[in-house]
Amino acid sequence: MVRSSFVLSLLASAGGFLSSEAKNLPKAKHVPGGYVVEFEDSQDSSEFFKTIGSKAKTRMNFNSALFKGASIQFHDAGSAEEAAAALTNMASVKRVWPNRIYDLPKDNVIWTGKSKDAATADNLVKRQSTSDTFTPHLMTQVDKLRAKGVIGKGIKIGVIDTGIDYTHPALGGCFGPGCLVSYGTDIVGDDYDGFNTPVPDDDPYDGCAGHGSHVSGIIAAQANEYGFTGAAPGVTLGMYRVFGCTGSAANDVLIEAYLRAFEDGSNIITASIGGSSGWSEDPWAVVVSRIVDAGVPCTVSAGNSGDMGLFYASTASNGKRITSVASIDNWVTPTLLIDSSFSVGSAAAETFGYVVGDPSAWGGVKLPLWTPSFDTTDPAMGCDPFPADTPDLSGNIVLIRRGTCTFVQKVTNAANAGAKYVMFYNNVAIGATGPSVTAVTAIKAVGMTTADQGVSWVAALAAGSTVTLDMVDPETAPVSLITNNNNATGGSASTFTEWNPTYEMDVKPQVASPGGNILSTWPQTLGSYAVISGTSMACPLVAGIYALIADVRGTFDPATLEALIASTANPRLFNTGSGASSLRAPVAQVGAGLVQAYDAAYTTTLLSKSYLAFNDTDHLDKTLQFSIKNLGKKAVTYKLGSIGALTAYTFSDSIYPDIFPGLEVSDEYAKITLSPSSVTVPARGSAVVSVTVTPPKIDGTRLPVYSGYITLNGTNGENLSLPYNGAVGSLHKTQVLDTGYLAVSSDADLNPVTGNASFVLSKDPSADVTQPVAVALMAFGSPRISIKAVQIKGKTTKNLGDIFGSPYDYAPRDAYATAFDGRLADGTYVPAGDYKFSIEALHIFGNAKKPQEWDVAVSAPFTVRYT
Ligand SMILES: *[C@@H]1O[C@H](CO)[C@@H](O)[C@H](O)[C@H]1NC(C)=O
Ligand SMILES: *[C@@H]1O[C@H](CO)[C@@H](O)[C@H](O)[C@H]1NC(C)=O
Ligand SMILES: *[C@@H]1O[C@H](CO)[C@@H](O)[C@H](O)[C@H]1NC(C)=O
Ligand SMILES: *[C@@H]1O[C@H](CO)[C@@H](O)[C@H](O)[C@H]1NC(C)=O
Ligand SMILES: *[C@@H]1O[C@H](CO)[C@@H](O)[C@H](O)[C@H]1NC(C)=O
Repeated sequence: MVRSSFVLSLLASAGGFLSSEAKNLPKAKHVPGGYVVEFEDSQDSSEFFKTIGSKAKTRMNFNSALFKGASIQFHDAGSAEEAAAALTNMASVKRVWPNRIYDLPKDNVIWTGKSKDAATADNLVKRQSTSDTFTPHLMTQVDKLRAKGVIGKGIKIGVIDTGIDYTHPALGGCFGPGCLVSYGTDIVGDDYDGFNTPVPDDDPYDGCAGHGSHVSGIIAAQANEYGFTGAAPGVTLGMYRVFGCTGSAANDVLIEAYLRAFEDGSNIITASIGGSSGWSEDPWAVVVSRIVDAGVPCTVSAGNSGDMGLFYASTASNGKRITSVASIDNWVTPTLLIDSSFSVGSAAAETFGYVVGDPSAWGGVKLPLWTPSFDTTDPAMGCDPFPADTPDLSGNIVLIRRGTCTFVQKVTNAANAGAKYVMFYNNVAIGATGPSVTAVTAIKAVGMTTADQGVSWVAALAAGSTVTLDMVDPETAPVSLITNNNNATGGSASTFTEWNPTYEMDVKPQVASPGGNILSTWPQTLGSYAVISGTSMACPLVAGIYALIADVRGTFDPATLEALIASTANPRLFNTGSGASSLRAPVAQVGAGLVQAYDAAYTTTLLSKSYLAFNDTDHLDKTLQFSIKNLGKKAVTYKLGSIGALTAYTFSDSIYPDIFPGLEVSDEYAKITLSPSSVTVPARGSAVVSVTVTPPKIDGTRLPVYSGYITLNGTNGENLSLPYNGAVGSLHKTQVLDTGYLAVSSDADLNPVTGNASFVLSKDPSADVTQPVAVALMAFGSPRISIKAVQIKGKTTKNLGDIFGSPYDYAPRDAYATAFDGRLADGTYVPAGDYKFSIEALHIFGNAKKPQEWDVAVSAPFTVRYT
């Protein structure tokens, strides 16, 4: 086994030696021994397959006009050595990449249905209305396009995801020609986990993961009981399943899915998948960029690691010309409540709603409420054991306010007094969530009602009334959708949305759309509907909006569509973490701002760019140009201006970027000069505008990223804006390597070894021996990390070059651990003797030939012998 990065996951449990920042480093994963190889177009690849022979198995062949190559996996390190080393030198091989693995996006599932047949049941509250009132659509003007009958009819959208429950009535009910989900395939099979071999079949059905059904509903859900539809219900979907029921997906699988989606004629391709990167050179991103260049617009979610701070771009969204989509919080928080009834004293029964938890045996329970406290502001109600004089609660439903300690602790206290049923009430104004307390076996059912409802019951109890709940079996009970206004963050960037730009100062994300608290479809096996938050939810909405705009304008040209949605998008106010401030959010967080679909579909002004990248101080592009095309029938005079967005500081007192919330923002804006400052563009004509930037005079050692918008106000009533972004300081001078050291493969925590360590290695790959491990902790991204073996002979040293598994190209901020079995990159073994590792990381934009452009850490010495 090539064990180049096998130990990375162990760093999660790293001991005290790591700084708290280093502990936050993500863990890149690769298919062991797996590589994605691209062939030279003109060369015969039979040489390649002959060379790898039986040493590796071919997982996939890529034979597309856009990408010719293969995914291979070496059986073990011993027989792989010459072949692995020889790969890059072969005439037929253009590039070789490790086969990286991406996790399912960590979206926050807020609510999922419980009723097994909710979608077909006619017991749901019907809230269908003729006009589109779905708030994600109101926020993005999709409602205005839908009012004109625009539905994206006949447009094919390829979706790369976990598969789809196409049997769901709101997702068409069938798979194949004539169905909503009319094409696609399963690239991997149920049991695929990212590391094992994919087992493809023709059926992209998903009844276990869910994510792809939610994403697909956002694009194209048909009318349903909850009164919403997807943005473009007239499209036809192609689903390419790249995840099994659990686990991850590898580069080769993603590349295969994209190539298939492209070759099957998708007009638009979307993926809500990503992984920490910052570089546009990853193989998956390279393939997606080529698909965009071939005329198919591709949208990819910007990622959910907003807490990692600036320069944390996610691949493939950070690829060139790929539309990266950030998330904005929904104006409302939708909650689906199960209805039951209650009565106060002898008054008539009234309906209330709650979210069912686990366990859920509520059916037929009719019991009076009892509460441990009438104080509805008690932050820790029910956390302490109930007092000794508590009555036997076996004949009550115990009502407890949420907060402070765990649900399990609260129900344990109730169960100790005999309770079998617990109803929580929320401690925040919005919604409710279903607690899981299955660990407490005495409890038969649990649920949570809204804060309002709980407070009103407690008031009745305090007044001496009896409040009796009459519970209906949640499997068959009516369900109603309630929505609460999100006045604090609705319309602002979601805190989880990832910060950019890329390490090469490319402007990302392009636009933002609603992704926080989104109701959509979910596999019927898992509850039929769900409310989820993530850039995963923002991205498919933009794919659907691309279809609507294409429907109106008759073009799929990626650059045109991106320029249209960017220029008509609305900049956002900055969400400090708890609500909107009065200043604009940085472009590095929200791009051009919130997409406005109707304006994008009907604007008669077309800009030649969707953003301006001024780069850093070293590479400042002081003057950039863009052109304005007037597609209208009358001359238009455009008045040009600019507005600043908050400058965000990458660093404060550490070489690791600051985390968010908490990173410093300021209103030190760049100065923008426009020439001309007003221009009249004749009908069907165009004009060029020059934009000259003077970056703010601020502390470049902290790598502040400034941004803002060029504004255009036309006499035709159209107001447009074009985002710009740049950095003060030098990416080139930024330290990238935190530290590098020697560890031992038998130490799960990979603590540094300081003494003189001795290793007895084996040239037999099946031997289980303890190996030296070179660990590199990267504070910032690097175009190349190189681990070299340095031989020590008395007072002299000799650098023998990269060890096997090194170098890593286009490395994200990450922790890297490379085990050394005695081999160099060329497959030869170093002689027995004394060594140390030279752990080297090239600076961004660095010249690899200049030693001073590398950060270097030299490890403790160690001795190598062989069995
Ligand atoms: C939220 O805003 C809406 C509309 O502006 C208003 O009616 C409502 O009272 C506000 N709710 C809260 C909790 O502030
Ligand atoms: C910034 O400058 C570097 C060095 O010239 C270049 O490689 C990079 O592509 C530039 N970035 C952008 C977004 O133009
Ligand atoms: C352009 O229009 C926007 C409103 O969309 C306004 O805020 C801005 O002040 C206008 N700019 C100019 C130069 O008139
Ligand atoms: C554009 O901006 C002008 C000036 O602020 C404003 O009067 C007009 O309503 C705006 N038009 C649109 C479509 O927002
Ligand atoms: C490390 O220890 C071994 C003996 O265990 C010795 O032969 C070797 O010279 C030492 N190396 C260094 C660099 O001190």
